[in-house]
Parts: sequence; C-alpha cells; structure tokens
Amino acid sequence: MNLTLETRDLTLADVPGLMWAGGQTHLNAVAKEIGRIGDAEYVGVFLPSGRCVGKAGITYTEAPDAGVIWQVAVHPVLQSCGVGAHVMREAEKRISARGLAWAQLGVEISNPRAQALYERLGYQAIRTEDSAWDQEREDGTIFRYETVLTIMRKPLGGEGSQG
Ligand SMILES: CC(C)(COP(=O)(O)OP(=O)(O)OC[C@H]1O[C@@H](n2cnc3c(N)ncnc32)[C@H](O)[C@@H]1OP(=O)(O)O)[C@@H](O)C(=O)NCCC(=O)NCCS
Repeated sequence: MNLTLETRDLTLADVPGLMWAGGQTHLNAVAKEIGRIGDAEYVGVFLPSGRCVGKAGITYTEAPDAGVIWQVAVHPVLQSCGVGAHVMREAEKRISARGLAWAQLGVEISNPRAQALYERLGYQAIRTEDSAWDQEREDGTIFRYETVLTIMRKPLGGEGSQG
C-alpha cells in the first residue's frame, strides 16, 4: 500500500490530535516549541484525512552549527512503513534551508531500533550524555525521568560539513 502524506508545519490546532505521541506534559512541550518562532520549527506529516501521523521538532538554539531534531514520533499503527525516515528527511531539509551544515539528535541508549534508523539515514554517534525531563504517568502524576542519550550527527552536504 502506498501512503499519500502531506508535510507541513505543525500548528497549535494540531496539538490535541497528538495524544498518541504522549500525555498532556508532552503536548504542552510541543505547543511551547511551536510558539518559539524563529528559534524552532515543528514538522508534521499528515494523512489526506488531516490526521497527523508523524512529527519532529527542530531547535536552533542548542548548537551553533546544527539544527537539533527531537521529539520524533510516528503513530504506533504506522510505524515501520517509512514515515519516520520521511519525517527525518523533511526536518533535514529545513535545517539545510537555514544554511546549517549539520543535523543533530539525541537517542536514548535504551532505544536501539531508533538508533538503527538514524544510522541507516547517515547519522553517526559522537558522544553520550546524561539527560532528564518531566514525564507523565498514566494517572497524570509527573516525575523526573533520567536517562542517557547517544548524541548523533549527520553532515547535510553543504560547506563546512566535513569537520
Ligand atoms: C523511532 C520511530 C520514530 C521510527 O519511525 P518509523 O516510521 O517506524 O520508521 P521507518 O518506518 O522509517 O523505519 C524504521 C523501520 O521500518 C523499516 N521500513 C522502512 N520503510 C519500510 C517499508 N516501506 N516497508 C517495510 N519496512 C520499512 C525499516 O527497515 C526499519 O525497520 P525496523 O522496524 O526493524 O526498525 C518510531 O518507531 C517511533 O515513533 N517510536 C516511538 C518514539 C521513539 O522512539 N522516538 C524516537 C526518539 S529519538
């Protein structure tokens, strides 16, 4: 089956339809990123019905030479169909359009499947770092989630991307 996907910026109106990607804490974080006009972008991939099935945030304030891709997620029923690779390529196009030479991301060391996808797309691990963020339990209570990220980078082909 071929999927017809539309790619556009995510808007605040799309956020309530992202419950598949996380709880209210996550949706609040997505809304905050959408509001950081100029410093961040949010790519959404949509079915013809208008339903968002894939997304990735890009922040431009984390690294001077790279756009940092995060909050990557694909609707569970559509995983392993190529949507994740599509979202990543769209995010990379946005970073390239800003004249930046690198795409960067952090993937949890406990998520080898996602890391394998990024490696397949040309990302290489450069270091690990400790990280933590607020996460929501099913009962709505918030806790501080601590983890270790593998930081990965991909050259986007422009000048200065070989260092
Ligand atoms: C990680 C994630 C974003 C990847 O998205 P995805 O849409 O499943 O990724 P893709 O389909 O592009 O590629 C991944 C897999 O699909 C396979 N694939 C890609 N295109 C395919 C196609 N047309 N037909 C069959 N398989 C395909 C790949 O070989 C790969 O294999 P795997 O399932 O063994 O890993 C998604 O699984 C997800 O949202 N996971 C939960 C949240 C998460 O972990 N986010 C990452 C945070 S860093």
